[in-house]
Amino acid sequence: MSTSVSAHGNGVLAAEKRRRPVTVPDFLAAKARGIRLTMLTAYDYTMARLLDDAGVDAILVGDSLGMVMQGEPHSLRVTLDETIYHTRLVARGVRTSLLVSDLPFMSYQLSPTQALESAGRLVKEGGAHAVKLEGGKRSADAVAAITGADIPVVGHIGLTPQSVHRLGGFRVQRDAKKLLDDALAIERAGAFALVVECVPAELAEQIRLSVKIPTIGIGAGAGCDGQVLVTHDMLGLFTDLRPKFVKQYADVGASIRAAVEAYCQEVRAGQFPGPEHAFRS
Ligand code: KIV
Repeated sequence: MSTSVSAHGNGVLAAEKRRRPVTVPDFLAAKARGIRLTMLTAYDYTMARLLDDAGVDAILVGDSLGMVMQGEPHSLRVTLDETIYHTRLVARGVRTSLLVSDLPFMSYQLSPTQALESAGRLVKEGGAHAVKLEGGKRSADAVAAITGADIPVVGHIGLTPQSVHRLGGFRVQRDAKKLLDDALAIERAGAFALVVECVPAELAEQIRLSVKIPTIGIGAGAGCDGQVLVTHDMLGLFTDLRPKFVKQYADVGASIRAAVEAYCQEVRAGQFPGPEHAFRS
């Protein structure tokens, strides 16, 4: 197993995936081979098709849909039924990416049985291949119950957005002992990957070296086994929040605004539709 960031290989899981879908064992093998994993969010068919075509290893139906799709200030109001609906839309667009779906707030905290029932619905009704849930030690029983039914689980530690009120905001998490304990508890419970959010880079690297499952960082530096971003952030489609850790790879929002302005201007000027857009009798 690689022991430092520089030990990562240049391999591309997505290239292999052109021949067949990405699987949970692929994720585990990628860590052993030093292949960095890629994950992005989607909430609908069209975006899922684009991401899958572009070769992203995993697509996450994140509960960030509360902010990005629903315009809420946080993810707490997202329901299990809404997540199932969005997962179904994404599933129709997925060909080879691994499809992971978020268990929303209060769909898994009551008991391991509730967690398993909710995870089962995301798989059966939504078409998810795996589920993600937040929390370290406190969520270990839920992870064990879900993986006990052979539903693959991704853990999520560090800044857990469903804890926004207890944490007092979306803040960097720096308690090394707690984070390491949480990572080990989630690995022991059977998760196959671990999202590490908003943690200092050196600490994220320590976490990566402490577990055998791949760590997927967001705001956790380069020392993780993979990276995840909210697609609407990295495309410049959603700009209500601008976290420091987001790199904007495109300004799709600006392209949309320019296209819509051009359309309105041409319609108003009688320039659209032209003869080439009209039917003849
Ligand atoms: O909800 C989400 O999109 C997430 C990712 C940012 C990791 O949990």
